[in-house]
Amino acid sequence: MTDAKTPVAVLVSGRGSNMAALIAAAKNPAYPAKIVRVISNRPDAGGLETAQAAGIETAVVDHKAFADKAAFEAALAQAIDDSGAELICLAGFMRVLSSAFVAHYPNRILNIHPSLLPAFKGLDTHARALAAGVKIHGCSVHLVSAELDAGPILMQAAVPVLAEDTADTLAARVLAEEHRIYPAALAALASGRAQMENGMVTLSGGQLPTSLISPPLE
Ligand code: GRF
Repeated sequence: MTDAKTPVAVLVSGRGSNMAALIAAAKNPAYPAKIVRVISNRPDAGGLETAQAAGIETAVVDHKAFADKAAFEAALAQAIDDSGAELICLAGFMRVLSSAFVAHYPNRILNIHPSLLPAFKGLDTHARALAAGVKIHGCSVHLVSAELDAGPILMQAAVPVLAEDTADTLAARVLAEEHRIYPAALAALASGRAQMENGMVTLSGGQLPTSLISPPLE
């Protein structure tokens, strides 16, 4: 029997909770992708152990072991290509990829970002959302393009910002949604449900709620 599942490499730098969500989703026989390798640029990333415990092959490509970014990325591409991966999921991967690397995998790299893009690109998104006083925050899954956090958006989830929130409580609320939308967005891309047109992605199907109002109306 041929395997119709799209092979995916997941790149991590840290605890790997999004990676774990992808691995868990991919256990479902009906899921259209399989995680073939988890690669970390940090030898001490907690995600490596989690992946191994789940029986997923792991590799370390330590950026510190290379003379420059080009050499690091060549080794990274090798580790990805050796696994047979056709799609790449960045899951808390903390190296910025060069435009040459991104161009090598056109529309094949996904990232999860902890904000409602295009707001709050970059780091410390939750603290910045609180400082800006937004009442709705969230997360985005997008295709990776040469410009940081600016590629076509596949899926977003919104959460209310509560008056008593700290960056940590807000991060936890957003993270729970990351774990829901990342597997869903990967499934949409792997199964061909994602339509690319004019640099934008459209996903068909599903049911939308009417709105999220925050704070709630009296
Ligand atoms: C997540 O908040 C993700 O959105 C961001 O980095 C964090 C990684 O967390 N890109 P984890 O390693 O998946 O737990």
